[in-house]
Amino acid sequence: KKARLWGGRFRTDTDPVMEKFNDSLRFDRCMWSQDIEGSEAYAKALRKTGILTDKETEEICQGLDKVRAEWAAGEFKVVAGDEDIHTANERRLTEVAGEAGKKLHTGRSRNDQVVLDTRLWLRAQVNQATQDMSTLMHVCCEAAETHIDVLMAGFTHLQPAQPVRFSHWLMSHVAALQRDCQRLQDMVPRVNTLALGCGALAGHAFGIDREFLGEEMGFDGIPLNSMDTVCDRDFVAEYLWWASLTLTHLSQLAEDLIIYNYTKGVSLSDAYSTGSSLMPQKKNPDALELLRGKAGRITGHLSGFLSTLKGLPRTYNKDLQEDKEPLFDAVETVHDCLRIAAGVVATMTPNADNLRAQLVPEMLATDLADYLVRKGVPFRETHHISGAAVKMSEDRGVPLDSLTPADLRTLHSAFEDDVQDVWNYETSVERKNSPGGTSRSSVTAQIKTVREYVASL
Ligand code: ARG
Repeated sequence: KKARLWGGRFRTDTDPVMEKFNDSLRFDRCMWSQDIEGSEAYAKALRKTGILTDKETEEICQGLDKVRAEWAAGEFKVVAGDEDIHTANERRLTEVAGEAGKKLHTGRSRNDQVVLDTRLWLRAQVNQATQDMSTLMHVCCEAAETHIDVLMAGFTHLQPAQPVRFSHWLMSHVAALQRDCQRLQDMVPRVNTLALGCGALAGHAFGIDREFLGEEMGFDGIPLNSMDTVCDRDFVAEYLWWASLTLTHLSQLAEDLIIYNYTKGVSLSDAYSTGSSLMPQKKNPDALELLRGKAGRITGHLSGFLSTLKGLPRTYNKDLQEDKEPLFDAVETVHDCLRIAAGVVATMTPNADNLRAQLVPEMLATDLADYLVRKGVPFRETHHISGAAVKMSEDRGVPLDSLTPADLRTLHSAFEDDVQDVWNYETSVERKNSPGGTSRSSVTAQIKTVREYVASL
């Protein structure tokens, strides 16, 4: 019969298919270092209760150092019966630390251990994601500053709407990323709570000092209730939700860029494009298409995991092992997507002339209405008059800006010769100078705000 940490009451081995079905080491091995860190802190806490002597604690800590070194060197040997990272590490520890190792699991369960490890692991990944987001926001700010002069068509309903700065468009995506980054930080206190010291569900019977454990491992707090702690995976769901929304935002950025690449408004670097195996001329925006696609995958993880959680009775159930693959995949996907997005933005070039050529005088119809507003005509009227001007130009088959002041005066007497000044995209853009607008000063202020935010992270 195979050696199992829990094998005492078992008469036969598990079915091999059941083993594959049950074992999680192939994916949870990535938490080896968190698992060892948790065991070290736990050994010290057990020392404080008197369960371990100084000598035993020392033997365990040295043993854990050895196990850590084996993982780090890629030399850790998995043996049959190592079903997850916790059993693998403990089995190896008892081999290298002898009798003392056998005392380490006193009062501990894999139920609290696995939550501890996952929280420690995710905490580090949240820091990584913060760095990745900072880099992306920084790169966007650089591009927004460099291309501040470039004007382009802003769209609603994918129809040309009003002229805007290219930088204003780019910062519109940064605004969403900044909220994502804030949400990520808000999550930290809920990720960073101490699960260890709950036993399997009911609590710790040897008076473990959880304050001490929390301080040793830098946790922000001890959760209210041990039964909740061993089955609480809110932090996993929350991360998946965060990842879904963040990747949704990257997907929207990607979709805009796919369109602007298609209309030749933006050129993408070869580094983020690929070719066709058949058509030699092709240069496809694959990086952007994958960015657009990844959001679907992670949203799937979120809805799948919420479905896993919804019917669970208290407390630990093996269903909870299903938290890891979606979580690990989401973390890796977010990391990749943020780096790819930063690379695409850092290397793309807006084609100022092409973007400008996409501006059409009809996009100044609102400015024409605003002109009359400045002459004292109520907007609800000026909207109709400007609409009539659009209709007149359409009937004549000419662009809106070719209507003369005399033409326009047939629609309203307040039009004067200075109406010609309306037909200027720069003027239109510069008028939008309130906070958040598309004027140079407003966009520059947005860039400054985000830069300060990034520096504060
Ligand atoms: N591999 C398990 C998981 O990921 C660890 C906890 C197992 N606990 C248990 N009582 N079977 O959830």
